Amino acid sequence: MKSQVLILDYGSQYTQLIARTVRELGVYCEIAPGTITLERVREYDPKAIILSGGPASVGAEGAPKIHEEILDIGVPILGICYGMQLLAVHFGGQVGGWGKNADSDEVAESTGDGIREFGAAEVSIQSADGLFSRLGDEKKLDVWMSHGDKVTALPDGFVTCASSAGSPIAAFADTKRRMYGVQFHPEVHHTPKGKKLFESFLFDGADIAKDWDPACFVTETVQGIQDKVPTGNVVCGLSGGVDSTVAAVLVNKAIGKRLHCIFVDNGLLRLNEAEEVMEMMSTLGLQVTMVDAADRFLSELAGVVDPEQKRKIIGRVFIEVFEEEAHRIEDVQYLVQGTLYPDVIESVSVVGSSVTIKSHHNVGGLIDDMKLGLIEPLRELFKDEVRAIGRQMGIPDPCIDRQPFPGPGLAVRCIGELVKPRLDKLRVADKIVREEVKAAGLEKEIWQSFAVLLPVFSVGVMGDGRTFEECIGIRAVTSRDGMTADWVYFPEDVLRRMSNRIVNETAGVNRVVLDVSSKPPSTIEWE
Ligand code: XMP
Repeated sequence: MKSQVLILDYGSQYTQLIARTVRELGVYCEIAPGTITLERVREYDPKAIILSGGPASVGAEGAPKIHEEILDIGVPILGICYGMQLLAVHFGGQVGGWGKNADSDEVAESTGDGIREFGAAEVSIQSADGLFSRLGDEKKLDVWMSHGDKVTALPDGFVTCASSAGSPIAAFADTKRRMYGVQFHPEVHHTPKGKKLFESFLFDGADIAKDWDPACFVTETVQGIQDKVPTGNVVCGLSGGVDSTVAAVLVNKAIGKRLHCIFVDNGLLRLNEAEEVMEMMSTLGLQVTMVDAADRFLSELAGVVDPEQKRKIIGRVFIEVFEEEAHRIEDVQYLVQGTLYPDVIESVSVVGSSVTIKSHHNVGGLIDDMKLGLIEPLRELFKDEVRAIGRQMGIPDPCIDRQPFPGPGLAVRCIGELVKPRLDKLRVADKIVREEVKAAGLEKEIWQSFAVLLPVFSVGVMGDGRTFEECIGIRAVTSRDGMTADWVYFPEDVLRRMSNRIVNETAGVNRVVLDVSSKPPSTIEWE
């Protein structure tokens, strides 16, 4: 798919939101680092460019710089916050204010009034030119500000389109050159009418036509896969999750029975999950082989309690089992992976290396070992788009709306030793949590909800007898993307039912606790 809009990233936390908003408006766009060269931009050949915000001060040491020729190539440009300031400086205006250096809290210089704006603000619209054309007669707009610096003097040819108490030039435009800038963030949901601004820029300011919807994505992708794999076979590891399912259904549409799906039962799945996944896959017309490797995984995991060691063993055994199965299929040339766009964006937000908190289960090793090519049909998509495409292809809602389930499965929720009786105990408690969340109609608003088995024995009394048994933790969080999360405040009756049922229906459990930790500082899974 060719991008009409190129988003250049200067390190804002919101760059992905810009891309999602543009795509929601039916325009295909991609994100590239803000320091991209002019030649690369020419290869993209965009019809419009959006410059993101960023944490640095324009001109400060270490601040990401734009190759300035890009600003003169003649396509319409919208600069947001830092992006607006880049435009201002390039075209001869002035930027002043807080002057923070890119990678420290040191103040570089202060040429403005020193007023920073963080949070809700109101701007008065002075001119509808380009940016506010789709807002009707509105003269005021609620916006979200997050900046230290601001444009303090207009460049030649630009007019002020909006101002706020803290930013006299909160938006500017040069309609002749089709350059626009906003100091605030139209991409965040705290700017309720922000989408209208993008609409104004794309369809009025830049005259772009809509080109992006799930149906055209499916047709183009299927054609692309057929061209890439004219003969031979393709393997795909299915987990039952939405990404691998949508990827497999797309490839299946393209090459039918030449796609061979493999579903590994690692003994760490939820209650009845293997059967449910297999049934779902067969209704979707996929050719799936299930490998029952539960004993093999559990025997390799015997006696292991360290979370990282558990994860590493599960990853390794998965690759071994998958490879053995894939070798039974003749002439395998490609492996399908459900990689999404957030995993492949090369952005300036990712600075330096981060510490490994958890080694994620992935199938990267397969490609090296088996010398396979890769098919990643979802690598241009955000999660919401994967869901939309799944629905478009007729994948049922229970699969599309499924909560994320980690590759290592219940292993990361069964603290301590992974033996079948403990896993079975956890499966029962986990089923109860899921059933009660569903019965309370909370499924859609919750990102993940599950039970955790804790190797903590405590004294209880059941009937007239003493018990000394393990404990179940209830974990439920809301989240946008799994990167941060907040715990769910369940209604009292839901908690009471969960707790009663868990103790009554789960043999070997006499106590239930509620996890009230957000991420950070905790993580969503316990291991
Ligand atoms: P944490 O526990 O790191 O989890 O806050 C963030 C999100 O990632 C999921 N998760 C995994 N997903 N393989 C996966 O595919 C893994 O190894 C893995 N570990 C955690 C977790 O369920 C949550 O949605």
